Amino acid sequence: MRLLSVRLIVSLIIGITVVSLVFSSYEVVREKEALRKELERRAEVLAESIAADLERSWESGSERALQRLVEHLGNREHLLGIAVADRQGTLIAVTPELTAILVGTPFDLTQAMADGHSESSFERLKNEPVNIFALPLYREDKIVGSLAVVHDAGYIRAQSLSTWREAFLTVLIQVFLIVLITLLIVRWSITGPIARAAQWMRALRTGRISSRQQMPDLDLFRPLAWEVVTLTESLSQARTAAENEARLREAGESMWTADRLAVQVRTRLGEGQLFLVSNREPYIHERKGRSVEVFVPPSGLVTALEPVLDACDGTWIAHGSGDADAEAVDSHDRLRVPPRDPRYTLRRVWLSKEEEEGYYYGFANEGLWPLCHIAHTRPTFRAQDWQHYQEVNRKFMAAVLEEIEGVSKPVILVQDYHFALLPRMIKEKRPGARVAIFWHIPWPNPEAFGICPWQRQLVDGLLGADLIGFHTQSHCNNFLSTADRVVESRADWEHFSVVRQNHRTLIRPFPISVDIPDETPIESDSYYSEEYRKRSSLMHGLGVDTPFLGVGVDRVDYTKGIPERFQAIERFLEKYPKYQGKFTFVQIGAPSRTHIKRYHDLMVEVESEAERINWRFQSGKWKPIVFLKRHHSHQEIEDFYRAVDLCLVTSLHDGMNLVAKEFLAARRDERGVLILSQFTGAARELRDALLVNPYDIDQTAEAIRAAIEMEPEEKQLRVQNMRKLIREHNIYRWAGNLIAELCELRLDPGDRMQPKLRGSVTAT
Ligand code: G6P
Repeated sequence: MRLLSVRLIVSLIIGITVVSLVFSSYEVVREKEALRKELERRAEVLAESIAADLERSWESGSERALQRLVEHLGNREHLLGIAVADRQGTLIAVTPELTAILVGTPFDLTQAMADGHSESSFERLKNEPVNIFALPLYREDKIVGSLAVVHDAGYIRAQSLSTWREAFLTVLIQVFLIVLITLLIVRWSITGPIARAAQWMRALRTGRISSRQQMPDLDLFRPLAWEVVTLTESLSQARTAAENEARLREAGESMWTADRLAVQVRTRLGEGQLFLVSNREPYIHERKGRSVEVFVPPSGLVTALEPVLDACDGTWIAHGSGDADAEAVDSHDRLRVPPRDPRYTLRRVWLSKEEEEGYYYGFANEGLWPLCHIAHTRPTFRAQDWQHYQEVNRKFMAAVLEEIEGVSKPVILVQDYHFALLPRMIKEKRPGARVAIFWHIPWPNPEAFGICPWQRQLVDGLLGADLIGFHTQSHCNNFLSTADRVVESRADWEHFSVVRQNHRTLIRPFPISVDIPDETPIESDSYYSEEYRKRSSLMHGLGVDTPFLGVGVDRVDYTKGIPERFQAIERFLEKYPKYQGKFTFVQIGAPSRTHIKRYHDLMVEVESEAERINWRFQSGKWKPIVFLKRHHSHQEIEDFYRAVDLCLVTSLHDGMNLVAKEFLAARRDERGVLILSQFTGAARELRDALLVNPYDIDQTAEAIRAAIEMEPEEKQLRVQNMRKLIREHNIYRWAGNLIAELCELRLDPGDRMQPKLRGSVTAT
């Protein structure tokens, strides 16, 4: 920095001096010219005014009279003297001062007579600069001699020198001021911010601070600083991953991390690529007034799969359902996401209103959803919806084929009940592709499934896959029994697979999970005081102030048991009145599938239940239930998870339920109690939750009391156990196992034949 300043100063001094001197010298030359012209003009006026007198005196013929006249006239400012010469060029009258310095007749006198007009020149007489102005003298129109007016021109030089002196002084002052100002600017906008940036980067590097929010004011270096933050974050992620790896090696554990999954997927896929298909997209672009906002939809599927794609790139093909989705994609309907830190490709598929109505709202959500969830809502099957379901599956098949075109070994993970027909459709066109479908919802027993008029086509479509995944073993068993009954196939209970038309499909349980991002145990008091502050501000925002807080986070869906949950809260307050005024339950309810009447009615029912119970118990500022009917971001939900004493998950039937696992993942403090429905897939793993039958209102009410009164040590032990389990069986293990199983299975001989890839050359 010092060297930079010296260089800058020297360059400024040289630059400014040279430029100023060039301008000054031009000024001096111009001024000198002007002074000379002025002197010549004065000399001319003087010479002409005295020429008449001299011509008259000439007539007298007396040289003495001429000399007297010359002496009389030659007494003016800057005038050195006057000289008169006759026609031969001999000096006949000269002022005395001039006599002393004149050496012979000045050339201008003879030249003026020869040319017949005035002559002027600047020369030196006895080393003194002078101006000689000569004029011919006439008598009867004939030149009889000449007159010279000699002026002292020394003052012109003196004037030039003083101008130079002033110029030098100005240059000096200018250089000083400009250098000073430049140094101040450099200090304020370069060295200052650089020093602050260096200090901040050092703190980032050494891990003393970790967030972008703490970035100081770095002026014009801000864009650079953002890049540094991203770099530091990547470095710290790499460092954490390396530390984790080392720790795991040390402990001999086989923990799954994002990095391990990325390595595993790259190894397994080889030249292959990963493609994921789901109805719901991970990012939705919605128009809000004049701007476009991006949000992550409330979907367990999205929560689970986003970290997988984040870790190993690939392409996610999904329905573009946002009203501004089309504006965000390129000409191939693709975009890179997550928007702030792109890591994988999202390919959007467009559906018409009718298609969405029939396939999504109709067949998938009014038919298959209630069919698979035993929640006592009757499924509705319409032939029209079934038509749309088939068409949309075909539409997605076309999109998948387009994306995998030219990819020699595509690995395709189809998601959920929206695409039961897709596996077979893809395999028929690309037998060499490895296709798995993961069914995120329960699979009922064959009798229950049997009421679907198109059960045979659905099971047949699924059996096109190489692998079908469910959350639990009992869903696998139900599927195997259904396949056995519904289609012509051989159920192999020993290897858990179904063989149909010489194609083997493996059926496996893969309990889905979440990521526990930060594993470091909390040691600082500041964490707890910060959490306490957040809890207070959260309660303040809700307008409540109670010692005990509970939370429920769901899409408003009849499978989630929200009215049953509210009734359990009512029962709890009724049974244990000492908790009235002391316990508030916050229900975060994201509106879902509201075009369907059953969902619309449920929203009305949930709201009126909350109102009824609040009306019954509320007093003063306190009320038992706060119903937040809107979509909340992950961050907002996490703030609730961390602030509450208990979380209620009371689904009447649920494939897995990731809210239960997300709640535990958020509890780094190892506090809080999970009350969990025994009819969720999660209940098979999270045995340390307080398990309840959500239909048994008294039992759930009792669980709320037990949760509130539980000893802190017991709470900690339970949370610790469950967090350990989630950490070991996290989302990376889920994806790793699923992809490994799919990549390792032996493709049927017919499947291994690759169809001709478009663009490849066929030998003729
Ligand atoms: C369940 C399904 C997902 C679905 C999610 C949200 O978790 O298994 O496939 O995305 O609900 O429902 P939605 O209809 O809004 O996508």
